[in-house]
Amino acid sequence: MDDTPENNGHTGSEVGPTEPAGSGVAPSASMLLSLRGITKSFGAVQALQHVDLDVPAGQVTALIGDNGAGKSTLIKTVAGIWAPTSGSVYWKGKEVHIHTPRDAAHLGIATVYQDLALCDNLDIVENMYLGREETKVGVLDEITMELATKKTLKDLSVSTVKSVRQVVGSLSGGQRQAVAVARAVMRESELVILDEPTAALGVSQTAQVLDLIRTLSGRGIAVIVISHNLNDVFAVADRIAVMYLGNLVSHGPIANYDRNSAVEMITTGRSDRVPSSLASSN
Ligand SMILES: Nc1ncnc2c1ncn2[C@@H]1O[C@H](COP(=O)(O)OP(=O)(O)OP(=O)(O)O)[C@@H](O)[C@H]1O
Ligand SMILES: [Mg+2]
Repeated sequence: MDDTPENNGHTGSEVGPTEPAGSGVAPSASMLLSLRGITKSFGAVQALQHVDLDVPAGQVTALIGDNGAGKSTLIKTVAGIWAPTSGSVYWKGKEVHIHTPRDAAHLGIATVYQDLALCDNLDIVENMYLGREETKVGVLDEITMELATKKTLKDLSVSTVKSVRQVVGSLSGGQRQAVAVARAVMRESELVILDEPTAALGVSQTAQVLDLIRTLSGRGIAVIVISHNLNDVFAVADRIAVMYLGNLVSHGPIANYDRNSAVEMITTGRSDRVPSSLASSN
């Protein structure tokens, strides 16, 4: 990789008056999630280099970057799939160690992966409770599960599903995505991470999923959404974080970016269009 100051592995954030560049900035208790100096190597491959990121509650953070930039690896360190090689994760200002997906779920972090991991041959209720069925004296409490499933979908304003007893294999891509999100948020999640939620969807299904993301953030939930689609990003995000060759080269409020600067950041790791007063803050 080249060795410009923008991607030398110590940049942290380059954009935004409230996000000083580089590590060493103490995480604030007002941030739901803060990453400091997160590095991850796979053998000789440095997938992440000294990543600093702050994720506030009630806002949508779009994580963008080219193929192989390190986006999925970054969220997997938060989701408990990979332990970082070095660096620290803070939850509400306190350092935490997330070793497993269960640890992440315990904190209130829910991740929806692109393949969704739903079972086509089971209905919506069965998918929602897969592996954590409600039992009443040893028998599955179907009524409780069905009512809770209906309530969760209603709370998320998912209205296109005809019956919660429909098998998931018969749902559209957008409806499947909605079930996967509903499943993730059913347990009091405070942070929902979505990896490419609209990649396989058509226009109206994409609109449904973007609505769902807005509903989540409107309820005070923090959302991190990975997307290659800048239309989606500019439609739904409050903040942008750009990864380039394993470095988080820029992050800040969406107002600091336009499409051109975002594309430049994604493809070259820097942008002259980002106002210098923002790029050089601190
Ligand atoms: N399990 C692994 N073993 C070895 N290398 C890996 C592994 N997972 C990811 N990498 C490497 O880490 C780097 C970042 O990959 P990552 O999957 O995080 O990229 P990404 O930004 O999510 O890309 P995409 O947009 O294509 O999904 C790549 O060079 C990739 O080859
Ligand atoms: Mg990925």
